[in-house]
Amino acid sequence: MKKTYSLLFASIFTASLITACSNEPSVSFTSNVKPIVDKHCAECHMTGGEGANASGFIVESYETLMKGTKYGPVIVAGDPLSSSLYRLISGKVDKSIEMPHSKEPLSSGEIAMVENWINQGAVK
Ligand code: HEC
Repeated sequence: MKKTYSLLFASIFTASLITACSNEPSVSFTSNVKPIVDKHCAECHMTGGEGANASGFIVESYETLMKGTKYGPVIVAGDPLSSSLYRLISGKVDKSIEMPHSKEPLSSGEIAMVENWINQGAVK
């Protein structure tokens, strides 16, 4: 049983390494990131919501998300650490401005998904 598990793990690991090294983006906004923002951000960042009104940041579609806030983009394709969206969700900013605002943070898997998505070019 134990052996089967480690074999399984090894092949998953290898598969993800291959994916990470290929040039084909495998993480997309529509399949991977939209469900995360729907779950954690939509309640405040849809048109008319508290967060949308305060910042202009709307998560309704790829286009509105990439447009960013009233001050400009929150995603820099290929560079998570320069992407304010990534910094806000990954515990890299002061608690008082973390997103989602005063709610349970994203899981480490969800944060990694957003990071991979940005690293792979933040495609639709
Ligand atoms: C409970 C409501 C709420 C939730 C949930 C929420 N936000 Fe916000 N968000 C706000 C408010 C209010 C502001 C404006 C005030 C501020 O910047 O603190 C804001 C501002 C922002 C900004 C602009 C910050 C800036 O520096 O201009 C970004 C980007 C953002 N939110 C991203 C997100 C993301 C991504 C999520 C989901 C992971 C999320 N928010 C979830 C309420 C929320």
